[in-house]
Formats: sequence, structure tokens, C-alpha cells
Amino acid sequence: YETKTPAYSTGDATSFAWTTARKRWPVIITQAIDDAYRSVSNCDDAEKCEEGKKIVAELTKLKYEVQHDRPLTPIRDDGFPDVKIYNDELEKLGNPTWLNVSWLYSECYLFRRISTSFSLSKHWKNYDVFARQKNNTFRSSRPAVLELAARYRDIVTQLREKKGEVDEEAERILFQEMCEVCLWGNATDLSLLTSLTYEDIQKLQGSEARKKAEANILVNDLPKAFDILQAAKKAGKAERRVDIVLDNAGFELFVDLVLAGYLLSARLATTVVLHPKSIPWFVSDVLPSDFASLLNALAMPREFYETPSEDEKLQEKTPDPLSGKDVDDLDFLFREWSGFHAEGQLFLRSNRCWTHPGSFWRLPHEEPELLEDFESSELVVFKGDLNYRKLVGDANWDPTTPFIIAIGPLGPSSGTNILSLRTCKADVVVGLKPGEDEKLRQTEDGGGDSGARKWAWNGKWAVCSLSQGK
Ligand code: F6P
Ligand code: MG
Repeated sequence: YETKTPAYSTGDATSFAWTTARKRWPVIITQAIDDAYRSVSNCDDAEKCEEGKKIVAELTKLKYEVQHDRPLTPIRDDGFPDVKIYNDELEKLGNPTWLNVSWLYSECYLFRRISTSFSLSKHWKNYDVFARQKNNTFRSSRPAVLELAARYRDIVTQLREKKGEVDEEAERILFQEMCEVCLWGNATDLSLLTSLTYEDIQKLQGSEARKKAEANILVNDLPKAFDILQAAKKAGKAERRVDIVLDNAGFELFVDLVLAGYLLSARLATTVVLHPKSIPWFVSDVLPSDFASLLNALAMPREFYETPSEDEKLQEKTPDPLSGKDVDDLDFLFREWSGFHAEGQLFLRSNRCWTHPGSFWRLPHEEPELLEDFESSELVVFKGDLNYRKLVGDANWDPTTPFIIAIGPLGPSSGTNILSLRTCKADVVVGLKPGEDEKLRQTEDGGGDSGARKWAWNGKWAVCSLSQGK
């Protein structure tokens, strides 16, 4: 159930796996330690406090093991069935060490390991060690959120006024814009934040930036995705579902909701199902609680944006107040989205399989029910880099390999239409024109002749790849 093309390893000196394991994982673990430490310092229950200190010690040990290239140890049994999946695979991999192991497996293992320290405790079971970071970054994306809220409100109001008499060409363009908003929202995940400043992030999020970035979409199958949804609408199908396999919380989840809300308002879909993670994952991925926090922030925008954060308090800074129009725009969004949610047109569906270690080549065998469910969806959108890596098995494909080949059993015979919206933050990429990879390597910071595909590491380039499965 796996591609024969070799997977990237943390031992490949020219791969991003190498850098990630040596530079980024220690930072990510340190941030988790800081967060847990902060919460332990604020806690008033003695037993909880003791447990918290133990968790901090465990995370510190984990960091040591990564940095000193120790073997990965079996995941402790915390009662969830995926422990066996992780541990069986660890054995199959021959009990590897951190700095010479399949990148996809070991990075998933890292977050699963972190989660056991909490799940095995009594008082910290549901604690999200990345929630603070997610929340702070979402707050700092305020300019882009306000800009999009105003634009969304205009579009939806216009759609209502036209009462379904929309010009198909205009609809196609709007669809493309909404998908691009949704795509670039992925450039700003928190695992990359270890190298970006907040100012960089804000630059990445504005509409000017988006227009310029269109040239950076290397594969653009969005017109074909539109055709699929439009055809189902024209055929008069009463139930038309779109699934979104989510990636990051905060700004990215916000833009996912922009897309979901637009699809529902434009009647390109009648239901949108969102698929979150079940444990804190790759720092910034969406948990059900992040969805609730986002709606809360929109419901009470003044509290969210105008109450100083912990850091602002320390620096004695007061955030700028929102204008009346800002509050109205956010309130509009809140009413729209919570309305769809209340009507059952927009909802979350959890599945632990999203935090399993392997590639999605295994899904037909491991999760047949999930795939059967996907077959009744018009389109399944996979957001982000990790989902893309899992779709294509994180393997060292020739970059001109067609996407429909690289996703193996999820390709054309699967019965499912798949659209991946991914900004490139890893080595693997497929579906490029011959010579394109070579050209990109010659651009500034593209990797040159080093043997490393550096252009694909920083989220500046993107692919929107479609596989039509029915
Ligand atoms: O590069 C580090 C990394 O953690 C990758 O392993 C992962 O694919 C990416 O960041 C996370 O990106 P995304 O949130 O888009 O999946
Ligand atoms: Mg992510």
C-alpha cells in the first residue's frame, strides 16, 4: 500500500527533511516546553502542577533524544488504537534513530509522542500545547482578516441581490479568487513561523500580494475544479457536498471558511464538511476547539482584538480599536457562518486517521468507509503541504510525474474527485512541465547546483492539482 518510489529521509543531506529535523524540530519542541512551563507556573492545583512539571521534563527529554540522534522508542499505550499502527511501523523500519529515518513517519511520530505526555496525564488530557501560538498568530493576521471580511460581505451581498442570475464567467473568476485566497492562507503556517516575522506574514496575506502570487502557481487546475461543481449544479443535483480536509487553524481556517461560505452562498455546494485533526498536530493544525475559538473571536471581535495579549501587557501596549465598519463586517461573517453551521450545511467530522503516520496510499485499505463516504462528495479538497506529502507518499518522484499517478490508488479509478491546494514547503513536487524544476533551481535561493530543491521549501510557490476520479 505504498509507492515503490523511495521516501524522503532525515538522513538525506540535500533534503528539507535534513534541515527540518536538525533545526526546526528542536525549536518546535522548545516552544512546546515554554508553553507548558508557562501554564504550569500559572496553575493553582498542586497535583496538576506536579503533573505539568513531569510533562515539561518529558518534553525536554524528547528534545535531547532528537538532538542526540537517539532511537525512536515505542509510543506508550494511551488507549488509542493508533499506538499499534505507530509501533508496528517503527519495528518495520528497524528501530531507526531520529536523524536517519523516513521524514513523513518521524515527523508524525514526533507530534504523536508529544501528545502522549498529555493524554497519559489526569489533568492535561485535552490541553493543546500549541493553542497559545495559534491564537496569537491569528490575532496578528488582523489586517488581512478585516480586508477579507469586507470583500466577502460585498460578494455575498451582491450574490443575494442577483438571486441566482449570475454570469457564469463572473462566477468562474470569483471561484478562482476564493480558491486562491484559500490556497495562500496555507503559506502562513506556524511550523514555518520559526523563520518568518509577523511583518512577513502580513505581507503574504494581503490582496496585492495575492495578485502578484498568481504567477507562482505552477500547476493550476482550478478551472477544471469549477467545471465539476458547475456541472453538478446545472444537472440539478439536490445534494452537492464538498469536503475540505483542513490544515492549519487561525488565518488558514478563516480563509477555508471564506471558501466554504462562498461555495454555499453561490450554490456551488449545498453542504461543506470540514475534517479537523484529533490531537495537536504539526503545531498549527485545526482541532475542533480551534473552530469554536474562531467563531468566538468573530462573535466578540472587540474582546478578541482589543484586549491586550499576555505579551502586549508585558510591553504595556494597547491594541488599536476596531472601527464600527470592521465590527459590522466581522459580525456579518459570524452570522453567515454560524447560520450555515446551525442549519447543518457546514460542519466538522473528526477521524483519527488524519493523525496516523502513513501516506494516503493506505487509505483504501485502512479506511474503506471514509473513502466510500468521499465518493458521494463532488469534490474533496486537501489543504496544505503535509496533506500533499501524504497524497503523493512524500516520495522522491521525478517532478514531471503526473499528479494522478503520484497519488496512486486515490487517482482516476478511486471514484473520488481530489483537489490539492498546496503551497510548497517540502521537497516533493509533481505535475511540473519538463525543465521547470531545473529553471526554478536557478532562481534566487532556488538551490542552484547544490542538489537541493530549495525553491520548494518556503511556501512561495504553489500547486493546485486535480485528479478526476469519476
Ligand atoms: O517543513 C516542516 C513542516 O512541518 C513540513 O513537514 C510540513 O509538511 C509543513 O511544515 C507543514 O505545512 P502545512 O501546515 O502546510 O501542512
Ligand atoms: Mg499544518
